[in-house]
Amino acid sequence: MHRSLFALALATTTITPAFAQADVIGSGIVPSTAAHSQTRPINFATTAPTSGALVIMMRDATLPTNVVDAATAQALNAAIASAKFEGKEGSTLSLRGIGNYARIVLSGVGEEGDRITHIRNASGKAAQDLRDEAQPVTITGGLNQDEAAAVALGYAMGQYRFDRYKTVDRKAPPTNPVTIISSDAGSAEALWKSRHAALAEGVSLSRDLAAEPANVIYPETFVERVRAAFGNTANVKIEVLDEPMMRKLGMGSLVGVGQGSRRPSRMMIVEYRGAGDSAPLAMVGKGITFDSGGTSLKPGAGMWEMKADMSGAASIMGAVLSLAKSKASVNVIGVAALSENMPGGNAQRPGDVVRTMSGKTIEILNTDAEGRLVMADANEYVVANKKPGALVNMATLTGSIVGALNDEYAGLFSRDDRLAAAVTAAGTATGEDVWRMPLHKNYLNDMKSDIADIKNVAEGGGPGAGLGATFVGFFVDKNVPWAHLDIAGVNWADKAGPVTPKGASGWGVQLLDALARNWK
Ligand code: BES
Ligand code: MN
Ligand code: ZN
Repeated sequence: MHRSLFALALATTTITPAFAQADVIGSGIVPSTAAHSQTRPINFATTAPTSGALVIMMRDATLPTNVVDAATAQALNAAIASAKFEGKEGSTLSLRGIGNYARIVLSGVGEEGDRITHIRNASGKAAQDLRDEAQPVTITGGLNQDEAAAVALGYAMGQYRFDRYKTVDRKAPPTNPVTIISSDAGSAEALWKSRHAALAEGVSLSRDLAAEPANVIYPETFVERVRAAFGNTANVKIEVLDEPMMRKLGMGSLVGVGQGSRRPSRMMIVEYRGAGDSAPLAMVGKGITFDSGGTSLKPGAGMWEMKADMSGAASIMGAVLSLAKSKASVNVIGVAALSENMPGGNAQRPGDVVRTMSGKTIEILNTDAEGRLVMADANEYVVANKKPGALVNMATLTGSIVGALNDEYAGLFSRDDRLAAAVTAAGTATGEDVWRMPLHKNYLNDMKSDIADIKNVAEGGGPGAGLGATFVGFFVDKNVPWAHLDIAGVNWADKAGPVTPKGASGWGVQLLDALARNWK
């Protein structure tokens, strides 16, 4: 062989991988296998140390009794008076140079409203404010068992971070413990371990899934991550439908959304039975792992946020995880309708007609109204196969709900007043507030198709969130109590909230956990 030809052949053989290039979807190189940096372990005790960073929960301007020694109390009372600190909910007063303490933070909880939620929030805020505090942290304030457990929950949610992809100047925050002081320390710790820790884990799962980029979390890896989170938790059954199975079941609407993507669609069904054979509460979540809009492509600015278009599915899986790991006496079924909405040679086009599992047909006039398409088949599947007592949907369905309610409320749509009241109550109790929106019968007229049973958008706009909800409801059996939560405004925190660092919020895990426990 000629020398240069030989070199070429050699070069070719060394760089050709053992697998065919066509088998690699994406680059094949994962951005990181590292974990997020370690957080502070959470402990409980009956007495507080007299050093380190101390957080005192305050109802008003009066120091709770027996939380610090007399000299410290005197110094604190002077500071409270001179700063005019009133203990108002959300207010804080940070002090240095008192006694042996590195820092004392007075944290206002207020006297009005839900004390447990306020305490959870104050603790979440402390976790964020004290993130870089080198000292161990103690939290006190005459806390009973429920309040101490709420402090633990708030701290766990507040100290969540997503930093596994930082390789340059990654400063791992201090990891010495946070200790929560309560005269009922033993029972508070038991409550935390048996229940609230599972809830915090559910919130973290939801946040992780939503924050992960779409080259890391796609339908198959969503399934893997959720499976790993459940491990072998008792009384949990996981089923996963792949595309051939979904095709067999006639899910043209769900599979159609994913047909433009190299990442195949999935439907994940996680069933937890902790209450014998009573009818389960079904929870179905939109799991679009990336929403580019498809052929009806979205504009570029802000499109990256659509990596979190699976937040509904993520929070549903987080809630089922919480219920299962805390062995709640409930029966629930969580369903994730997983697809990636991409343009491409095989993507569906505006004007395409698809057939759902229910047999009803849809004329797709905008491929960017894809959430309702995957919800239609997933709802049909769970209603037809699992005979749920009620059905709750959670979906980042419309930009319209962001305009109406921003990040203060999720939109609640329901035909069932009793279920709507239960969802609203669960929202109020957990601080994940919802606002009920109308489902006017005329909305359906706006989506009449000339050639199919329904079209997926009303040309000329209209009440977008209501139309989306109406479309989803069109595919739900009228005899099943049904509620839909449009969470497009609340799933992502543009700025930090008390228990939500900036980023994926995990919104809905707490609400669904509370709803499942109280729904009869
Ligand atoms: N995932 C989006 C909705 C969304 C928008 C979520 C902003 C979070 C932030 C959804 O699939 C979508 O594209 N909806 C369209 C519907 C329209 C085409 C009828 C919308 O809201 O513009
Ligand atoms: Mn869309
Ligand atoms: Zn979407």
